[in-house]
Amino acid sequence: MRVERFDDIVLYNADCRDIAPAAVYATIITDPPYGMEFRSNHRSTKHAAIANDGDVGMLQWTCGLPARHSKYIFCRWDNLPDVPKPKSMITWVKNNWSMGDLKHEHGRQTEVALFYPGEDHFFANGRPSDVVRAPRTGNTDHPTQKPVELMEQVILWTDGVVFDPFMGSGSTGVACARLGRGFVGVELDAGYFDSACRAIERAIDQPSMFRPKPANDNAVTASLFGDAA
Ligand SMILES: C[S@@+](CC[C@H](N)C(=O)[O-])C[C@H]1O[C@@H](n2cnc3c(N)ncnc32)[C@H](O)[C@@H]1O
Repeated sequence: MRVERFDDIVLYNADCRDIAPAAVYATIITDPPYGMEFRSNHRSTKHAAIANDGDVGMLQWTCGLPARHSKYIFCRWDNLPDVPKPKSMITWVKNNWSMGDLKHEHGRQTEVALFYPGEDHFFANGRPSDVVRAPRTGNTDHPTQKPVELMEQVILWTDGVVFDPFMGSGSTGVACARLGRGFVGVELDAGYFDSACRAIERAIDQPSMFRPKPANDNAVTASLFGDAA
């Protein structure tokens, strides 16, 4: 097993099922394999297949992990029958949409995450809306790469050390580094682990000078109705 440490950030190149039982974290923010065997026919960058992507058991295992403050677990809407009922869901609205069935399916402009509050839950920056807007990444480092801007907004709703057992190219860790939050990340694939280490190291060298303003009800209402106030 390879372990990299940068201040209050610890990264494991390992199977998360070997790491997770060692501690109970405050917050879990993660994007596990969905059990949907993700494929894209429209990608110019070739990536390694996602480990365990045909196994919905990874998502179910993640839902069973304890977290004192909260868990935000990305998935697809059609995973809902597979998981414990969440308290609510958040929706990431992207700046453009992807393909799917061109004739009989709406263009896909959103992704969702399950929200499970823990025993010590509180909203760290006031009650947020369940909608988050962030541009797509282009997936240069990973086929399902999440934007750092999205992860930063979610992290600002939470508290304490953030655990991401399926960190991929490290977007959650980069966001934590930019915000000065403790982070523990695990990734099975050595290539994606290397990408994550490089990205997080760069972010530690260049932390965010300006904390993003947490999204809240007023911000969403304003953007929906074109109110600049
Ligand atoms: C959906 S991707 C996460 C992508 C990430 N959000 C990003 O922005 O790059 C899930 C990741 O989990 C990893 N993975 C699959 N099974 C794992 C396991 N048992 N332990 C740790 N990582 C695993 C895969 O290699 C993949 O990179």
